[in-house]
Amino acid sequence: MKAKIIVHNQVSLNGAYLGFNVDMEKYYKALNAYKPDLILTGSNTALQGIEMFNEIIPEEVEDDFRKPAIEKKDKRPYWVVPDSEGKLKDLLHVYRNSGYCKDIIVLISKNTSEEYKQYLHERHYDFVISGYLKVDLRSALDTVEERYKPKTIVTDCGSKLIKRLFKLGLIGQVSLIVSPVITRNKYAGLLTNLDIPRNIELKRTKIESLDDDLIHITYTVI
Ligand SMILES: NC(=O)c1ccc[n+]([C@@H]2O[C@H](COP(=O)([O-])OP(=O)(O)OC[C@H]3O[C@@H](n4cnc5c(N)ncnc54)[C@H](OP(=O)(O)O)[C@@H]3O)[C@@H](O)[C@H]2O)c1
Repeated sequence: MKAKIIVHNQVSLNGAYLGFNVDMEKYYKALNAYKPDLILTGSNTALQGIEMFNEIIPEEVEDDFRKPAIEKKDKRPYWVVPDSEGKLKDLLHVYRNSGYCKDIIVLISKNTSEEYKQYLHERHYDFVISGYLKVDLRSALDTVEERYKPKTIVTDCGSKLIKRLFKLGLIGQVSLIVSPVITRNKYAGLLTNLDIPRNIELKRTKIESLDDDLIHITYTVI
């Protein structure tokens, strides 16, 4: 993959990504400032977002079976979600209709159920099949890059997907909003126990106070 991925997250002072309040407005403002062509979101994050923002899941209507028409000047990103287990079956229309993305691209594996493949096919979601048990992220993202030619890809996910991307060496920048809170033991660090062969050296590219509490720090992998 030619494009390097920007990891974006809000963390506590001790590096946890859960167990405190994420400032959604500032988090998405900083994410969108990258003007991403693709947002790479985790299936757990997507599922949690749907549950958090929708008390009742709207029923699918006829239009949800059509690919949305996209104008050339449309600057919204595509959302790409690895979802080998089909966790988002019967839910993707919520994201498709959110108004925040052009459409959803789903990354699945050979082991993904036929039922989910059929669901995606019938609704004209673009999907990439790669790998056996879990989607082979490197090869699936290569295919997405070939099809969509993104220049900027930013994550919107938790540590599971971020760790996988680090393991595959696909990260080019790190963008962290740091919160003035230290979380208790229960909450794991975003970047702890990374499976990487050697230390990654980075160069700080920005440090900015977002308000009296939050700091936004960005780094580029050297
Ligand atoms: N603090 C923040 O800024 C922030 C930001 C975003 C989200 N969050 C929180 O993070 C939590 C979710 O984080 P999470 O770490 O549980 O999950 P996640 O990163 O949202 O989702 C896990 C993703 O990793 C993929 N994955 C895992 N192992 C893989 C492998 N071996 N090969 C390919 N893909 C693999 C999964 O794909 P499959 O489905 O195919 O397994 C899935 O898409 C939520 O509570 C959310 O609110 C916090």
